[in-house]
Amino acid sequence: MKIFENKEDLTVFLDAKKNKGLAVGLVPTMGALHEGHVSLISKGLADNDLVVVSIFVNPTQFDKEEDLIKYPRTLASDIALLKTVSEETILVFAPSVADIYGTTVASQHFDYDGLEHEMEGRFRNGHFDGVGTIVKRLFEIVKPQKAYFGEKDFQQLMIIKKLVAIEKLPVDVVGCDIYRANDGLAMSSRNMRLAPEYREAAPFIYKMLQAAKTKFATDSAQHIIDWVNLQFENNELLELEYFIIANAETLKSIENKTTESSFRAFIAVYADGVRLIDNIALN
Ligand code: PAJ
Repeated sequence: MKIFENKEDLTVFLDAKKNKGLAVGLVPTMGALHEGHVSLISKGLADNDLVVVSIFVNPTQFDKEEDLIKYPRTLASDIALLKTVSEETILVFAPSVADIYGTTVASQHFDYDGLEHEMEGRFRNGHFDGVGTIVKRLFEIVKPQKAYFGEKDFQQLMIIKKLVAIEKLPVDVVGCDIYRANDGLAMSSRNMRLAPEYREAAPFIYKMLQAAKTKFATDSAQHIIDWVNLQFENNELLELEYFIIANAETLKSIENKTTESSFRAFIAVYADGVRLIDNIALN
């Protein structure tokens, strides 16, 4: 498996492959890889000759220094997992902070038409400027035809689509389904941090999303929101941070449904101090 630690080596290698007409896809990650990441990589491998998996814990998207320091860095086991997927057609790009940012570790500011102020943007200051900065830089380095992002982070996916539109970047952004454990819990590197009792309780999050979807056919949005809040009040292990129903395009929270739009439910929950997010299409 080819592992590149700086952008110059990677671009020289990729230019040669692209000159031969090979299609290159990109899956940006921060490592601590799990089956959710693998599902994106597999989709990338089905569409392209080569897939670059970037592994880079991006400092500019963390608003708390402590979270950046605590973020798991597991390059050796990440590479071992990727080898089980494909030794030949996956290229790992694991650059240093200096290689990406030089001496100024700072975000560019983006205007994503208000998408950045909803949900995760309310709770994580400057987060989406940091995400936009690193993703744009990765696009410039790798110049992929297609790049793959999970609906697990639906707001991030919408923001990347907006970034590509406003910056006119020549890349096709592909959204991928949420990959779940058998009991419905969305895969996340944070799931490892859950004590067994909390891990057992956590599939309740997806159960609530499924119930919201069923209710959405007949109930008002406000009624569903009240009902979900009540279910969490009665749950001793899981603490609801937010549950909202939003327009899937604008991500604006709604109280009233209209027939023309598509809607999604979004949720953030604390389990034992671990923050878990999930979402579902409602119609
Ligand atoms: P990270 O959290 O490592 O996630 C990398 C990609 O994997 C994201 O597109 C995310 O949505 C996707 N992903 C994670 N768990 C998933 C699951 N259970 N099902 C489907 N997709 C899943 O998101 C980031 O890194 C960073 O913000 C990044 C985009 C790399 C920029 O630094």
